[in-house]
Amino acid sequence: MSVQKDAKWWDGHARSYAKKPVSDEAGYQRTLKRVTGFLKPTDRVLELGCGSGSTALNLAPAAQTYLATDISPTMIQIANDKIAASPAPNLSFRVASAETLAAEDARFHTVLGFNYLHLDGYTGYESAKPCAERGIVQRITTSRKLKEAGFEVLENELHGTAGADPRPFIVARKL
Ligand SMILES: C[S@@+](CC[C@H](N)C(=O)[O-])C[C@H]1O[C@@H](n2cnc3c(N)ncnc32)[C@H](O)[C@@H]1O
Repeated sequence: MSVQKDAKWWDGHARSYAKKPVSDEAGYQRTLKRVTGFLKPTDRVLELGCGSGSTALNLAPAAQTYLATDISPTMIQIANDKIAASPAPNLSFRVASAETLAAEDARFHTVLGFNYLHLDGYTGYESAKPCAERGIVQRITTSRKLKEAGFEVLENELHGTAGADPRPFIVARKL
């Protein structure tokens, strides 16, 4: 699918996605805690595929500035409504993709993506597999792609606590 088609699909599903409860709250909290441990108060952070912004709201206090982005204008509208209701001074949301930001030559200390990288490239192949197996394949494929792109993989963990979804969690540093 093209980015435009993906954005349209996510726009159509944004309001229902934003209402869904987190499926594995303990696993999610584990991820938030691990990410917070890596962030520094001097960090300029970029989040890609931020959805309706809940994770950005949780993590932004640990950074200097936090730009959260998504290709879906409806997701960003929902996220902006959240900060209008409860302001977060160092957090901003905007419609963007990795490609549009790269073209602006934007610079960040840390780039985050949650439940997002798996959407890039191999969803069709993997969607036929059971969730647990899919998570393992995603973990291996993503680490390999990061290494090929010149990153050192620092952490490669599974954060899932609810059985079926392993919640792969990878931290990598550009060499
Ligand atoms: C499964 S949702 C995850 C949202 C959020 N990160 C979370 O963990 O709840 C995937 C999000 O990625 C966005 N997305 C999909 N493809 C993208 C792309 N190429 N660039 C940026 N965002 C993208 C979608 O609009 C959607 O909001």
